[in-house]
Amino acid sequence: MRQYLYLLSGLAFIFSACTKTPEWEAQNPIKPIPDSPLGIDSKLSELPEPPTPERVRLGRWLFYDKRLSADGSVSCATCHRPENAFSEPTATSTGIRGQIGGRKAPSFVNLAWTIYPNFFWDGRAASLEEQAIGPIANPIEMGHTHEAMVAGLNNIKGYKKYFKEAFGAEMVTLDHVAKAIADYERTRLSGNSPWDKWKAGDETAVSDEVKLGDTLFFGKAECNQCHLGQNFTDSRFHNLGIGWDSMTKKFKDEGRVAISKAKEDTGAFKTPGLREVTKHAPYMHDGSVKTLEEVVEHYNKGGNKNPYLSTRIRPLKLNDKEKAALVSLMKALEGEGYQDQAPTSFPQ
Ligand code: HEC
Ligand code: HEC
Repeated sequence: MRQYLYLLSGLAFIFSACTKTPEWEAQNPIKPIPDSPLGIDSKLSELPEPPTPERVRLGRWLFYDKRLSADGSVSCATCHRPENAFSEPTATSTGIRGQIGGRKAPSFVNLAWTIYPNFFWDGRAASLEEQAIGPIANPIEMGHTHEAMVAGLNNIKGYKKYFKEAFGAEMVTLDHVAKAIADYERTRLSGNSPWDKWKAGDETAVSDEVKLGDTLFFGKAECNQCHLGQNFTDSRFHNLGIGWDSMTKKFKDEGRVAISKAKEDTGAFKTPGLREVTKHAPYMHDGSVKTLEEVVEHYNKGGNKNPYLSTRIRPLKLNDKEKAALVSLMKALEGEGYQDQAPTSFPQ
């Protein structure tokens, strides 16, 4: 058996050497920019600076390449895994040298279109480009300096061709790394879910329970005060009382106030979008809520009382059937367009 494997890998090696196309390129061909799935009205091609196929291909390698971190142990995808809609199944993230961060890695789909350009849970980055380079130099995420990361990539001969192809210059720059990664992120779409099919006229696409959930979400439960638009988020900041410690009367993490300096933003975090929400429990900025059922309970009881609780949060008085219907509605937002898996070969 083992001999066969050696023989096979030997043949594969000879084959790739003869065909000249390196393994990494064969795995990651240039693909057209995807069309938006049902339910997403905007098109990538209509963005002021639309992503290009060459940048997306380069960005895909960079996103999964651990050589962007100081010791080669962490890539963006360590914390943003495609199978979890680019989030993680843990409450907090473990970055370089096993260091644990304080916030949940958010999922990202349809990120090309935000009502307000607020990135991160507290909105401290104003563009995807600015956002993309943050983690590289974050001491507990990827632990690198931007200079060392750029120098490291400049030493990888195989990357030169693709930087040239994407940006017209072989030389790796921080700006080009950020642009390529951001363009890859922009092509991670989500739509064509059962809910989208139903809204487009297919009455059989969802159950009656989902339809009841929809009536509640946009009606009595008023979830759409904050979860609105095609991504189910207003991209603004609200306090639901998550992380409030009623003993010390403090928040573990004060959220938006650190950026806005406005007192009323204490304990406020950005509304997350709800597409693919089933893929990335546990929930909230600190991953403290384990299931969608518990999320609905949190809203039903009117959040956690604290001095800065959003005035839009109040007890909902939902019965068991209604609570289950809201959960079913959220489950009907599982769609397609973001799916991917890590390449196993990278430019050398
Ligand atoms: C060690 C884990 C870790 C790594 C590595 C990491 N991230 Fe993150 N990412 C997070 C966490 C945690 C947050 C939320 C932090 C916050 O809001 O303060 C986040 C936030 C984001 C967001 C914001 C999404 C939104 O809706 O606002 C994007 C986009 C993102 N990361 C992309 C990347 C990219 C690109 C890389 C690689 C260059 C990367 N991340 C590397 C953990 C990580
Ligand atoms: C006042 C605005 C507001 C309203 C109303 C609201 N949400 Fe939220 N929602 C948020 C914010 C802000 C967060 C993140 C809070 C945090 O992490 O501290 C959130 C988080 C969530 C999450 C977790 C998602 C994730 O990725 O972690 C789910 C699920 C959710 N809301 C569903 C609902 C449902 C269902 C309703 C209606 C019953 C609702 N929301 C009403 C603002 C709101």
